[in-house]
Amino acid sequence: MKFSDTLIARLRQASSVCVLTGAGISAESGVPTFRGEDGLWKKFKPEELANFDAFIRNPDLVWEWYAYRRRLIHEVKPNPGHYALAELEQRLRDFTLVTQNVDNLHRRAGSRRIFELHGNIERSYCIECRTFVSDLKLDELKTAPRCEKCGGLIRPDVVWFGELLPADAFAEAESASTRCDVFLSVGTSAVVYPAASLAYMALEHGAYVVVINPERTDLSFHAQETVLGKAGEILPMLVHALQKQPEGEL
Ligand code: APR
Repeated sequence: MKFSDTLIARLRQASSVCVLTGAGISAESGVPTFRGEDGLWKKFKPEELANFDAFIRNPDLVWEWYAYRRRLIHEVKPNPGHYALAELEQRLRDFTLVTQNVDNLHRRAGSRRIFELHGNIERSYCIECRTFVSDLKLDELKTAPRCEKCGGLIRPDVVWFGELLPADAFAEAESASTRCDVFLSVGTSAVVYPAASLAYMALEHGAYVVVINPERTDLSFHAQETVLGKAGEILPMLVHALQKQPEGEL
C-alpha cells in the first residue's frame, strides 16, 4: 500500500491529529455495522430499539437487545485497526480519538484519550435517580432491571436517536477538530449528525481531511483524500509508513 506523500508529510509535520471512528473500525472484530450489508439496521428497527419512547413502551425488548449486543462485544477482541490508533496516540503529542462506537474496543486496545459521542454499552443508569450501575450480571437478565435505590428503570448509557450527545465529549471533539492539522474519518458512513459535522469543522479550519473506508462516503466529496480499504489493514500500514525513515534522512 503506497500512501500519498502529502498524507505522510502532513502526518509527520502535524502537531495535532484528530481521528473520528465509526462502526467500520470494529467490523473486522466481528461487531456488525449499522448500515452495511449485514448491518444492524437491516435486521432491526431503530425506531423500536434505539429511542427513549420505544424503551418506555417495551423496556424488556430494548434491554434484551442491548444485552445481546453486550454479550457479542464481550466475545470479540480489538483488531489491528484499534491497536494502530492506540499506537498513534503514543507517537503524537496532541492526538484525540473521537468515537461513535459504544463497544469499548478502543479502550480495550489501550487508547486513553477517547471521547465517546454515543455513550458506552458497558455502562447503565437509572432513568429516575441517574445512579450508574456497571454490573455484568445484568446481561443475564431477560427483563429490564430496576434501580436498587429508587426502583426506576435501568437503561444502557448509549445515545438514542433524538437524544443529545454528552456535552463535554462533544465540546472536546469540536475543539480537537478545529485545532487539528490532520483529521482521519475511519469506518464511518458520515451520515449521522452532529458527529458527521466534525470533519467539516476540520476542513473549515484548514485541516487535511482523509477518509479511510472500503467505500467512498458522503465526506469523500469534500475530503482531500479517500484511502479505500479496511481499517484493520490500512491503519497498521499507515503507522508503519510513519515509522519508516523518510528517504534521504539518516
Ligand atoms: N474498515 C473500515 N470501514 C469499514 C469496514 C472496515 N473493515 N467495514 C465497513 N466499513 C465502513 C462502511 O463502508 C460504512 O461506511 O464503515 C461504515 C459504517 O457505517 P455505519 O454502519 O453507518 O456506522 P456509523 O457511521 O458508525 O453509524 C453512525 O449511527 O446508528 C447510529 O449510533 C449509531 O454510532 C452509530 C451512528
